[in-house]
Amino acid sequence: MTDATASTANQRIPRHIGIIMDGNGRWATQKGRSRHAGHRAGVENIQPIIRAAADMGVKFLSLYAFSTENWRRPSLEVQGLMMLLGEFLDREVDTLIKENVRIQHLGSLTGIAPHLADKIRHSVARTAHCTRITLCVAFNYSGRQDIVNAVKSIIASGISEADVSEQLISEHLSSHGVPDLDLIIRTSGEWRLSNFMIWEAAYSEYWPTQVFWPDFTPQLLQQAIDDYGKRDRRYGGIGSKA
Ligand code: IPE
Ligand code: IPE
Ligand code: MG
Repeated sequence: MTDATASTANQRIPRHIGIIMDGNGRWATQKGRSRHAGHRAGVENIQPIIRAAADMGVKFLSLYAFSTENWRRPSLEVQGLMMLLGEFLDREVDTLIKENVRIQHLGSLTGIAPHLADKIRHSVARTAHCTRITLCVAFNYSGRQDIVNAVKSIIASGISEADVSEQLISEHLSSHGVPDLDLIIRTSGEWRLSNFMIWEAAYSEYWPTQVFWPDFTPQLLQQAIDDYGKRDRRYGGIGSKA
């Protein structure tokens, strides 16, 4: 394969996929189980999907795990979600390292219990050398707040107005070093962003599915990637088929 064909083939694989992992609660309710059981099943589905994305050649995978708006839920549910993240990190980081997966946290550690915030920091540090795929975990995340924080840090660094650019703002978001989203998958039949990576999503393609997150499969991920490969990303121009 020549370099030119290799790069054409690679364009069919989104470099960065975001998944809004929605529908755990409804999945559980349908089965007569607790919402917490739904979240647990949702967390169990994460590792197979990371593995599948890496095998398919995706370089960045962003998972929406907990929004700042999710603090509005009953405190028992919130506590359960915090506990599940801690358990996931305790259980899976060794495997992630073996599979060469780097973790990057998106969002704020402020407001998260100190022991969990430490676990997140520690997981990011332990996987910092990994290169196969970057797993961005959006936890205590708000796209708008992330932009506000970027603006604050730009002002604090004393950068002059003339030097403010889109690239500079991107570099100050918690997704710094991560390319814009190519494809956003949302499970559970909802068609909205819910404050997920609103800056990085400016030109991403959307792929909603009715399937609830715990039932999402590598086959569906493949289908989303295949559909993405057929999209004509025009970026305001007239596109490749014109
Ligand atoms: C997604 O599932 C997980 C989080 C938002 C933490 P939900 O808990 O939102 O499930 P539904 O939307 O109520 O079914
Ligand atoms: C979005 O799901 C957040 C996550 C998947 C973590 P929500 O269930 O919180 O979104 P809304 O409230 O239906 O928009
Ligand atoms: Mg939901």
